[in-house]
Amino acid sequence: MVDMETLASLCKRRGIIFQSSEIYGGINGFWDYGPVGTELRRRIKETWWRNMVQWRENVVGLDTTIIAHPRTWEASGHLQSFSDPMVDCKQCKRRFRADELAEGAQVCPECGGALTALRQFNLMFQTHVGAAVDAASIAYLRPETCQSIFTQFRNVLGTSRMKVPFGIAQIGKAFRNEITPRNFIFRSREFEQMEMEFFCHPDDSRQWHEYWVSERLAWFRSVGIRATSLRIRFHAADELAHYAKACSDIEFEMPFGWSEMEGIADRSTYDLTQHSTHSGTPLEYFDQETNSRFVPAVVETSVGVDRTLLAILVDAYREEEVRGETRVLLALHPTIAPVQVAVLPLSQKLGDVALPLAQDLRREFATEFDVAGSIGRRYRRQDEIGTPFCVTYDFQSNEDHAVTVRHRDSMQQDRMAIGQVQQYLREHLTTALVQS
Ligand code: GAP
Repeated sequence: MVDMETLASLCKRRGIIFQSSEIYGGINGFWDYGPVGTELRRRIKETWWRNMVQWRENVVGLDTTIIAHPRTWEASGHLQSFSDPMVDCKQCKRRFRADELAEGAQVCPECGGALTALRQFNLMFQTHVGAAVDAASIAYLRPETCQSIFTQFRNVLGTSRMKVPFGIAQIGKAFRNEITPRNFIFRSREFEQMEMEFFCHPDDSRQWHEYWVSERLAWFRSVGIRATSLRIRFHAADELAHYAKACSDIEFEMPFGWSEMEGIADRSTYDLTQHSTHSGTPLEYFDQETNSRFVPAVVETSVGVDRTLLAILVDAYREEEVRGETRVLLALHPTIAPVQVAVLPLSQKLGDVALPLAQDLRREFATEFDVAGSIGRRYRRQDEIGTPFCVTYDFQSNEDHAVTVRHRDSMQQDRMAIGQVQQYLREHLTTALVQS
């Protein structure tokens, strides 16, 4: 399996992920996406949205603000309990999460210095809204996207024509002042979540929980992650979050061990009840069929975009020996590949005649046109960013109006008429899309 250092170096070399503010020495726990990474990220979000919203009758979308009324976080329980236990080293001033040190540790694992007593550290980032900087103007950057789905439940219910059971989905940034951000983009301080809150009758939540676990596992498979890299872990009663009645994680085997990718939780009626009590606005559902009123239970699916992207990269990374050289490739599923097809004229002289083909393909597929450098180097670059197809325009193409299509994984090359390329790619790429 690829190690994080090798992967991070590939990501930097190929414009997938950069350290944030690198020219100022970086800022711990923050990462930027380069041109290739931005496309990959966008595609992951698109497939999630298609699968979770567009293709379902019973899920609608929402897009809410990063800063919400501060009382939101009182009601959700984050102000009181969204914290990690922290200790500092009195000597080297390093900061640790107490639950990551050996039990009862009193001495710094880095320098042997004495540790402070344990303190609870709230992970929410604070800011102030308005001109006054005082206690009354404190606000928080959201640590999860779902709370506004609960606070907007009534508005969505009243405007969308949805009936329970139904879901509300959202993709957006979340912020946590993690004490020890680590493992590249796995745990960062600014990240993006894709969450869906499914509102159902409390008697049915167990069944919906099972349903969503299997749907979400199928989605990870549909973006190309191998079944052997995934597993489901049920939470024991003593590790459940304060809001959850049951929780199952979808875990992925990272180079540093099996790790949580997504949490699927039965949150019961906790959230709507809390917001109802704190705001004084009833958050209930009136079922016309049974002529009864109830507070819906919530089954949540919550996954990080960045963690998913990391899992996809780890799973797709391959090294192969080809004629005495190591070929590195990302065997990305065509649905999420940042570049779907690269048009590569064999020589710079063929650039002008090959360009119209790239322009035609660009309308339908994510296309790169690259004329500079040896063809071997250009193939290497496309392999390393996971481009499924390269189309090579050579000197003979001018005569026979045919090009060579090279497959990333097998390196097999098929010669075909230029007029057939679009249909050929459509069959290979669009079929993959429909299945994902
Ligand atoms: N609304 C429920 C919730 O936020 P969570 O388990 O705290 O639950 C859900 O987070 C998902 O968000 C995680 O499974 C992970 O994919 C992602 N995530 C959480 N903290 C993260 C961090 N610091 N960096 C990157 N992704 C994170």
